[in-house]
Amino acid sequence: MKIGLVGAGNMARALARGWGEPVLCSDGGSGRAAALVAEVGGEALSSNAEVAERADLVVLCHKPAGLESVAAEIGGRVRAVASVLGSTPVAAVAAAYPGTPVLRFVPNLPVEVRRGVVVYGGAAATEADPDLERDVVALFARLGDVVPVKDPLVDAAMAISGCGTAFVALVAEAQVEAGVRTGLDATTASRLAVGNLAGTAALLDVRRGDTLGLRREVTSPGGSTARGLAALEDRGVRAAFDAAAQAVVHGGSR
Ligand SMILES: NC(=O)c1ccc[n+]([C@@H]2O[C@H](COP(=O)([O-])OP(=O)(O)OC[C@H]3O[C@@H](n4cnc5c(N)ncnc54)[C@H](OP(=O)(O)O)[C@@H]3O)[C@@H](O)[C@H]2O)c1
Repeated sequence: MKIGLVGAGNMARALARGWGEPVLCSDGGSGRAAALVAEVGGEALSSNAEVAERADLVVLCHKPAGLESVAAEIGGRVRAVASVLGSTPVAAVAAAYPGTPVLRFVPNLPVEVRRGVVVYGGAAATEADPDLERDVVALFARLGDVVPVKDPLVDAAMAISGCGTAFVALVAEAQVEAGVRTGLDATTASRLAVGNLAGTAALLDVRRGDTLGLRREVTSPGGSTARGLAALEDRGVRAAFDAAAQAVVHGGSR
């Protein structure tokens, strides 16, 4: 399946690196498409229309605000569309590409290292090609775990995985800063924080997401972990993550 990327920014780069195969690519004029194909192979094309005409699947990797203008350029030329546009329901993409098969995904940046979570919000107008949905989902499954979520809940899912990559990075950053304040050098603190994050994620995966069980294994009554956890609870770590999810789903900055 020849992949065409409209947009060559952070998400397009992560997807292309994860797929590790040549792509057709365009950008809004920055030259990032050329830089991307210099890395992964393929061709940077001067128009979105050419990407659409030559690709079997066009992955929309521009910003959501560009939906209508890009559709005006490539609608009618494109064989199938996979949208990764945040906060854009599959129905809105389908309305911009009437009659064209459309599938909605929200990947997170770890797709770059094939450890991604790809929220799958469903498809529209795929009836004409029964194999298409299977093939496109399989393409994204090469990048990590594809998690089907009903389209109205995709933003709620994005608040955990897509945006969650930045949230977890902030947690690691806060841990590094805290380590520096307690005397560690930044390099050592970062090695500890990132290694702990990766190891904890792997362990939770094996334990089927049993966070409470894992916490109990680490926490001796009245011990140092218990004191640290109490400090985090006192400072409202749960409320902070809840506010972040609400902000993603319902808008507003706080
Ligand atoms: N970043 C994430 O973690 C993440 C997660 C989930 C979903 N998404 C979604 O992925 C999409 C891209 O996000 P991003 O973070 O990759 O943004 P980004 O880094 O700003 O990249 C956007 C890309 O779109 C290109 N572009 C803009 N207008 C265009 C046009 N008319 N024709 C062709 N290309 C055009 C830009 O061109 P220039 O290079 O010329 O500026 C740029 O290469 C968004 O819809 C976002 O909601 C992102």
